[in-house]
Amino acid sequence: MIPGNKFFLLTFCTALFLSGSATAKPGDAVRGKDIYDKRCTWCHGPDGDGAGVAHDRLNPPPRDFTYGNYKIKTSSFDSMAPNDDDVFRMIRDGMPGTAMPGWSDLLTEQDMWDLVAYVKLFAGFGQFTIKQIDFGSQIPSSAESIEKGKQLFEMGDRCVECHGKTGKGNASKRLIGDLGERTWARNLTKPWTFRGGNDPKDIFVRITTGIAGTVMPSFANPRSKKSLSIEDRWHVANYVASLAKADNKVNAGNTVIKAESVDGELPVTPDDERWEKTVPTTFYLVPQIIAKERFFKPSNDTISVRAMYNDKKVAILMEWDDRTKSIPGDDRAERIADPPLMEDSIAVQLPVTIPEEMEKPYFGMGDAAHPVNIWQWKSGTKDTTESINILNSKGSKDIEKRDAAEIGLQAKSSYINGTWKVLMYRPLTTPGPEKNIQFSEGRFIPVAFAAWDGSNNSESGSKHTMTTWYWLLLKPASGFKPLIAALTVMGLLAVGLLWWARSPRKTIA
Ligand code: HEC
Ligand code: HEC
Repeated sequence: MIPGNKFFLLTFCTALFLSGSATAKPGDAVRGKDIYDKRCTWCHGPDGDGAGVAHDRLNPPPRDFTYGNYKIKTSSFDSMAPNDDDVFRMIRDGMPGTAMPGWSDLLTEQDMWDLVAYVKLFAGFGQFTIKQIDFGSQIPSSAESIEKGKQLFEMGDRCVECHGKTGKGNASKRLIGDLGERTWARNLTKPWTFRGGNDPKDIFVRITTGIAGTVMPSFANPRSKKSLSIEDRWHVANYVASLAKADNKVNAGNTVIKAESVDGELPVTPDDERWEKTVPTTFYLVPQIIAKERFFKPSNDTISVRAMYNDKKVAILMEWDDRTKSIPGDDRAERIADPPLMEDSIAVQLPVTIPEEMEKPYFGMGDAAHPVNIWQWKSGTKDTTESINILNSKGSKDIEKRDAAEIGLQAKSSYINGTWKVLMYRPLTTPGPEKNIQFSEGRFIPVAFAAWDGSNNSESGSKHTMTTWYWLLLKPASGFKPLIAALTVMGLLAVGLLWWARSPRKTIA
């Protein structure tokens, strides 16, 4: 908190009204303060310094408005102040991938302009002239422009050092924001996580002004060795827009992993080309906040799952973008990680007994009446190889660790350009049915996943991300009608569950 802040504010309120500043729509900062005190202080703090009660549970943290750093602005890189339209847009639409909600359902346009007027006062804006971006003339996207953009993106480590060779945000170094907080370069293959929009024009603006308060630089700054002409920035923007990978996107209605029936042998490596022909189902990974130790600052956000089976075995392939390959003891991994570095890990949770009815899923790690099998893979350390274990769990206090080899459960992994793929496979049936799930065709098998990024906040134990319960179905080769009806019903149920799981209020409650 800055001492004398209130006096400071009052002075600027007066200055603003007297100067009749060049706002897009005149906002009333006095009204704005009332709305702010009611809606925004929880995160941004009563003094606008980002120190609201929820602040230490959020990553990125709520903005400290007193520094005047606006990330998503259309003013030029050497103008600190944003345009009023920029601030308005962030309040109206929110910032995807962060706790900052959009307010258009709760507030009127006028309310939001009043907030713009008020929020800007925290940094004393109002007296500056704002320089605008030069857009030149937009170059429409084309194969040729995308190819030029790709070359510029990769050349001289221009974007790759932070965003990785294929844009997944797998930086070659540890990135820290201006306030000392750990930051990550955006995963450019997931444009729906962009804070400031993902059409080429938005991306052009981000490249041109950079993202204030973070290491993402301006590429219009002529003093930078990496700077780009206007034309080249359009090519790069077209390339970035082309990186969107639809496979990664969650389709809320799709809640069933459909294992394809295969005639011959199953693939035994995660990179086997036959996987590409199967359709993945993608789920959100949300932080584990039920058991201690609760966890609020995740980095993994989605997981895509495919499955195949034949008359002997079932194979499940999990794929997720993780910006860091966490191998404890490896020099490079240790440099990038939050210490202490832990192994990356993924787990599949399945009921020991497949429920007869499509029973309501149960949370956590099972209970006495619903024991679960957890198959957990870990990435290994410099001195040990990757491993897989089975946990038999009847809740977090009753866990038995078992050897996966006992029932022929195996795992193979690959990590390429910021993406883990882990393949787990096992015989359909095993000895000891009271302890091990027995797979059979045409049944809806509850399944859930958990992921650990060992470089992020030392994720391990109960500190991880997870999905809610979904379904695995060994799809009979011939298919049958009742299944299709059941699939539709489950899709609808899932939309409700997902809404619950993703509600931002829940994660900070
Ligand atoms: C649940 C927490 C939360 C609430 C409530 C909240 N914000 Fe935010 N806000 C955030 C976070 C987190 C960020 C930073 C996101 C980032 O850095 O990418 C942010 C960023 C912002 C920004 C910066 C935009 C930019 O371009 O940098 C503005 C402006 C803003 N909030 C205004 C508001 C206003 C006005 C309200 C109340 C109507 C509000 N916020 C309520 C969490 C919140
Ligand atoms: C020094 C590291 C660094 C370099 C170099 C860099 N970026 Fe970024 N970039 C970041 C970080 C960090 C963020 C996330 C900032 C934040 O916290 O919102 C980001 C975010 C982005 C975004 C997301 C914008 C949004 O609306 O969310 C885009 C697009 C982007 N960068 C494109 C590029 C392109 C294209 C290049 C090369 C011309 C580049 N970046 C070079 C670090 C970098």
